[in-house]
Amino acid sequence: MPGIVIVGAQWGDEGKGKITDLLAEHSDAVVRFQGGNNAGHTIVRGDQEWKLHLIPSGILYPGKRCVIGNGVVIDPKVLIDELDSLRARGVDVGGLRISANAHLIMPYHMLLDSAGEVKLGSLQIGTTRRGIGPCYADKAARLGIRVQDLLDEKILKKKIVAAMEPKRLSLRPFEKDPSLDLHTMTEEYLTFGHRLEQHIADTSKLMWQMLDAGETVILEGAQGAMLDIDHGTYPFVTSSNPLAGAACVGTGIGPKAIDEIWGISKAYTTRVGAGPFPSELHDAMGERLRERGGEFGTTTGRPRRTGWLDLVALRYAARLNTMTSLVVTKLDVLSGLDRIQVCLSYRGADGAEFDDFPYHQTVLHHTTAELTELGGWKEDLGECRTMSDLPDGAREYLDFIADHIGVPVALIGVGPGREQTVWTDAGRATLIAPAVRS
Ligand code: GDP
Ligand code: IMO
Ligand code: MG
Repeated sequence: MPGIVIVGAQWGDEGKGKITDLLAEHSDAVVRFQGGNNAGHTIVRGDQEWKLHLIPSGILYPGKRCVIGNGVVIDPKVLIDELDSLRARGVDVGGLRISANAHLIMPYHMLLDSAGEVKLGSLQIGTTRRGIGPCYADKAARLGIRVQDLLDEKILKKKIVAAMEPKRLSLRPFEKDPSLDLHTMTEEYLTFGHRLEQHIADTSKLMWQMLDAGETVILEGAQGAMLDIDHGTYPFVTSSNPLAGAACVGTGIGPKAIDEIWGISKAYTTRVGAGPFPSELHDAMGERLRERGGEFGTTTGRPRRTGWLDLVALRYAARLNTMTSLVVTKLDVLSGLDRIQVCLSYRGADGAEFDDFPYHQTVLHHTTAELTELGGWKEDLGECRTMSDLPDGAREYLDFIADHIGVPVALIGVGPGREQTVWTDAGRATLIAPAVRS
């Protein structure tokens, strides 16, 4: 103990990478528990920027144990490229462990992801086309290929044949695609296996050992609550559970091993891909947030949709996660505005008001945000390091958010750099003290 979960509280890209890197300094291990290389987690240290897709955001600390848990879906080629590029930049990746039970993204998953989107036409989800959905579908259908299968040629080949058989019809347009040739695919994946073998382990046992020894483990989520396949804006979601509840299943530990659950939210809202977004802005203010916030996807480069902070969705995310602390990132992006708006409720098509997130898709799709105006602040926040450095307007905004969702703010982001962070007393009390004590 303790186990600390870090989750996205919106539609992803909240700044989980930066916060995980920051907290990793006070921890012994960082473990990813779901998602795959649909994720893009950015860490900025000095003039160096790192974009991680599969490797946990603790990797930049020499000797830190980093684990890719069983709940992650792994594209082994992407993982090897990420390892190589980190090594080339002088990062020690020797401490990485990969769950033998994690599922592998295969070439046919990527083809089916793209083909599925094309088929949906105007109804498409806007996936990252990295094969995430089809890979999780195969896992549920018990047709998945796992990391451990890379170490046995006979089993690997047999499983690829079995996985491809029910997909014959949908893969017919790709018959001539060289990546689908059984021999080529098997050889390629065996090579990946050789490259990754030294990192493959029984990672849940490793987690138990660390937790039993009193070590601090960070469980790093990808995506965000509103992209959760069960509780998000289905079907415009990812194919896993980015909620804290999944951190246990995705790593092989029990719920009692979790002590803290930190939800990360921007000071406004963004979303990449299609789907409902009640507080979305389609005007010059939306454009301003995109420009000032650099809101372009880390993985696909797509412009992110932008809008005001949605407190209906954030309160829902706090409940779904039993969030113990809130981190508000990118507060600096709101500097210079006379007035800031926040969404406190939704208005349905029939005029009904919703204080809570509506469960019905049709209702949600026709809601608009009811906005409340708060005062802004002029000052640049980039150099603020303590609460008292922040202008009154910024502090009042944070208080308003914390009061409304009923979770204390632990950390505030005032820029992309790891030092551009303000710790609140609540944040220091919940994390730093216990971690230093242990
Ligand atoms: P993640 O997927 O949740 O890790 O977030 P991303 O890395 O995809 O997107 C967050 C972006 O915001 C990255 O470019 C970060 O460097 C940047 N960022 C994180 N925190 C802050 C902050 O407090 N202020 C500003 N201006 N940028 C931030
Ligand atoms: P991080 O970890 C933002 C979105 C996609 C699409 C939907 C489904 O960086 O926060 P998928 O490829 O998962 O089947 O796409 O989910 N999406 C993300 N949006 N941040 C992410 O990850 C995302 N991962 C997936 O844009 O709308
Ligand atoms: Mg991201």
